[in-house]
Amino acid sequence: MTGVRPLCTTAERICTTTEGSDPAWPADLLYGRLLATAAQQALGGGPAPRAGVRSIDGSLEPLALDRWLGGLEAADWAALAVAAAPVLDLGCGPGRHLVALRRIGKRALGVDLSPVAVQLARRRGGAAIPGDLFGAVPGAGRWNTALLLDGNVGIGGSPALLLRRTRELLATDGLAVVEVDPPGAPTYRTRIRIEARDVVSEWFTWARVGIDGIGSLARRARLVHEDTLNAGGRWIALLRRP
Ligand SMILES: C[S@@+](CC[C@H](N)C(=O)[O-])C[C@H]1O[C@@H](n2cnc3c(N)ncnc32)[C@H](O)[C@@H]1O
Repeated sequence: MTGVRPLCTTAERICTTTEGSDPAWPADLLYGRLLATAAQQALGGGPAPRAGVRSIDGSLEPLALDRWLGGLEAADWAALAVAAAPVLDLGCGPGRHLVALRRIGKRALGVDLSPVAVQLARRRGGAAIPGDLFGAVPGAGRWNTALLLDGNVGIGGSPALLLRRTRELLATDGLAVVEVDPPGAPTYRTRIRIEARDVVSEWFTWARVGIDGIGSLARRARLVHEDTLNAGGRWIALLRRP
């Protein structure tokens, strides 16, 4: 797997890899295609397409399309309860948290790399814009809460950099609501790709962060680990920008 190197990176093109002649898709493009299919199948009461996330160590987890297109669990509601508006949902996906925030009267905006995810979020009634959270984000420095839920602390593969970026987006006293792995779980950088029945994505860098590792990462980003929420087996760190 380490020999796989995409030879092109533009989202419009399918890449050729060094692994045989199978084409590897840009990850955002394949994710968008699977999301669109899952949304369409959900309308007809059908199951989401079978897809997984392969780690460079060979392990495979399901790609949670159903979850992202579905509703909230207790941990999500607990996270939204502590969120002060305006809320910025970083990597909002198809917008389940945006929809819930709207329902409880908290103003929120989602940002997501995937135009398909943004379109689905808007269709569900959320406010969302396409874009890279490391790029231009409206209202930078004025958000009272930033959400990094459901593994999104792994975006980009450098949680320290991601938390520094999150700090920049927050207002003074703003809160980063960051989902992490349970006690005992390691903090590490990895490479992953999306795998579906007939196609794979290019490999991209990701990270996993355990609750035991979040304190030092927060300090490096000049955030204060103020509290931790724990509901339904999920762990959410609350990091304050002083
Ligand atoms: C694991 S999904 C989570 C979706 C959503 N937070 C939820 O819990 O339903 C991760 C999302 O992050 C988005 N994403 C990844 N890198 C990003 C970046 N640099 N800027 C903005 N969004 C990004 C992906 O397109 C994807 O929709």
